[in-house]
Amino acid sequence: MDYLNTNKKSWNIQVDVNFKSDFYDVPGFLAGRNSLNSIELELLGDVKGKSILHLQCHFGQDTLSLARMGAQVTGVDFSEQAIEKARSLASEMQLDAEFICCDVYGLKEILDKKYDIVFTTYGTIGWLPDMDRWADIVSTFLRPGGQFVFAEFHPVVWMFDDEFEKVAYSYLQSEMIQEETSGSYADRNADVKMELISWNHGLSEVMSSLIRHGIRIDQFHEYNYSPYNCFKGTEEFEPGKFRIQKWGNNLPMVYSLLGVKE
Ligand SMILES: C[S@@+](CC[C@H](N)C(=O)[O-])C[C@H]1O[C@@H](n2cnc3c(N)ncnc32)[C@H](O)[C@@H]1O
Repeated sequence: MDYLNTNKKSWNIQVDVNFKSDFYDVPGFLAGRNSLNSIELELLGDVKGKSILHLQCHFGQDTLSLARMGAQVTGVDFSEQAIEKARSLASEMQLDAEFICCDVYGLKEILDKKYDIVFTTYGTIGWLPDMDRWADIVSTFLRPGGQFVFAEFHPVVWMFDDEFEKVAYSYLQSEMIQEETSGSYADRNADVKMELISWNHGLSEVMSSLIRHGIRIDQFHEYNYSPYNCFKGTEEFEPGKFRIQKWGNNLPMVYSLLGVKE
């Protein structure tokens, strides 16, 4: 199964839908809204003057938010459509940001630079089969003492079926998951159909891979909410905090991690 081209095609289809969605609120973003959440902002601290490599940047809102905060940013994504939109947003906003269209695993072949921070958040590692190769990329692009800032949906969330009715996948599921979906997480009713291939990565797999590649883990947090309303059957129990109504406080929804390159 050619997971890379299958997923790339589906992400290219989603870009335009997501760009126009209320979920991403591009007009609000252009008017000054910072798209980053308190979870990752707390780990990032002051980014002014820092170089940041943003992996799987989609159409660049978070990358450009970091640029607005004074960072020198490079965003990477394998979707041509996403990178095209990111570049045009950067030029509209007159921000100095670099965007590279590339598979995460192929980055070493085209980029030779060390960064103060490698950043990647929400809905990224599930599209990558191998956490060891991912951690190698994270480590390769960090200078010694550089920080890895990571926030992701909790693997427990991915154990459930789409409706969050029942456990559909094992926590330690190692086989790929192949799904046909319609609509996008940013607009469920969008008239698009896609085939997507993903993997569930448990916490120990993620952390052990980072540690093996010389990343010391200084902070690790778990949250009972998602800052995004991107799942079915959610309730906003506090402003900007979403959880699955059926499961209340019982599920971890997101985790975050601050690593340091030894
Ligand atoms: C859920 S989005 C990331 C969302 C981002 N946090 C945001 O809110 O804009 C996942 C991104 O990963 C990208 N992606 C998936 N597989 C990839 C790969 N192998 N290499 C590079 N980018 C990839 C997709 O094109 C998509 O833009």
